[in-house]
Amino acid sequence: MRVLLIGSGGREHALAWKLAQSPLMTEFYAAPGNPGIADHATLVALDVDNHDAVVAFCKEKAIDFVVVGPEAPLVAGIADKLRAADIAVFGPSAAAAQLEGSKGFTKDICARYDIPTGAYQRFNNAPKAKAYVRAQGAPIVVKADGLAAGKGVTVAMTVDEALAAIDDCFEGAFGEAGAEVVIEAFLDGEEASFFCLCDGKHALALATAQDHKRVGDGDTGPNTGGMGAYSPAPVMTAEMVERTMKEIIEPTMRGMAESGHPFSGVFFAGLMITAKGPELIEYNVRFGDPECQVLMMRLKSDLLPLLFACANGTLDQVGAEWSDDPALTVVMASKGYPGSYAKNTPITALPEDSEGAKVFHAGTALKDGTLVATGGRVLNVTATGKTVGEAQKRAYALAGEVKWENGFCRSDIGWRAVEREA
Ligand code: AMP
Ligand code: GLY
Repeated sequence: MRVLLIGSGGREHALAWKLAQSPLMTEFYAAPGNPGIADHATLVALDVDNHDAVVAFCKEKAIDFVVVGPEAPLVAGIADKLRAADIAVFGPSAAAAQLEGSKGFTKDICARYDIPTGAYQRFNNAPKAKAYVRAQGAPIVVKADGLAAGKGVTVAMTVDEALAAIDDCFEGAFGEAGAEVVIEAFLDGEEASFFCLCDGKHALALATAQDHKRVGDGDTGPNTGGMGAYSPAPVMTAEMVERTMKEIIEPTMRGMAESGHPFSGVFFAGLMITAKGPELIEYNVRFGDPECQVLMMRLKSDLLPLLFACANGTLDQVGAEWSDDPALTVVMASKGYPGSYAKNTPITALPEDSEGAKVFHAGTALKDGTLVATGGRVLNVTATGKTVGEAQKRAYALAGEVKWENGFCRSDIGWRAVEREA
């Protein structure tokens, strides 16, 4: 099979590493990719926002299957363009990607299909939104409707904080994404990420993970794209997984099909496990980054036929096998992230990969033969172990071998699970 992978982050490096191991793979390209992905695929300098150029490349190279990593091209309709050109693609249509692209859209699906989630209202102006917040009281959650790179959510502990967040949204802090605001009830519990493949008619549960969104140790400081993750998430017991499938994933899949926009791709459900059970915080329509890295470390099955089954509607004919050993990844980021940071700082040494130990590249580039950091999140140092504690020790030992002056990482990734193990 001739495959094109779209994206350039740590998630895509993990997907590339796993896809390249498939005996079905004959030719493998990635656009734009990164130096880690270059170990597995031929990099192509395609402008992935130019969907016609992507289709033209696929025609030229007779690409059989396109795997889309990030959400932005999906929300912009790249899967529709490829399907219209008869090219199989892993990832939802623009209409189905609204599950991530519009929080209001997802909340309306939840309401219509009785999917457990926080009570909510949608607003297109500040006065009505503020009146609602004053009536509800705090804690309460204010969300910009559209894609805001993970920054559009305020979990407000006071009414004043919520009112300020409403002003931010409507005054343009998140651009178009904030033209509409969703206000929802605060959910109290432990968060978990749940991943499930879908071909429009069938769903295949994959695995669970826990992210660490705050930049600092002890879950302090501003939110980031994720500073580290581990899989599985102990809070997601077999019973919780079964309930999530029945109460959240299956009704969503049915609802999307009934509305004429069947979902194919991966459901990444952000869950809060409350006293009532699993409740939906949000959907993403792509793998999590860095959650994907730990999932790929644990996946024993060939990834390529699993993703292809989503595209051709045969997900009921495949299965996924997982290692019981937990995996943990530590994100190394540029000092200053998630604020501003220096670019092109040199990385002079990386540890060798070994069985169950792998460094994935995110924001790296090669400049005159030297590996440099070009992004905020730069490396994902990943390891497996018999316990989360063992995976954590191995990952931090590897991180200690990285020679990169301008890099930093959290020192407590996995703390919740390690505490549980103790
Ligand atoms: P989101 O971008 O929707 O994932 O929200 C970012 C983070 O805000 C989530 O990972 C949660 O930690 C928190 N959050 C979002 N919605 C709620 C809610 N209704 N109750 C409590 N925390 C929330
Ligand atoms: N790590 C969270 C995300 O990928 O959205």
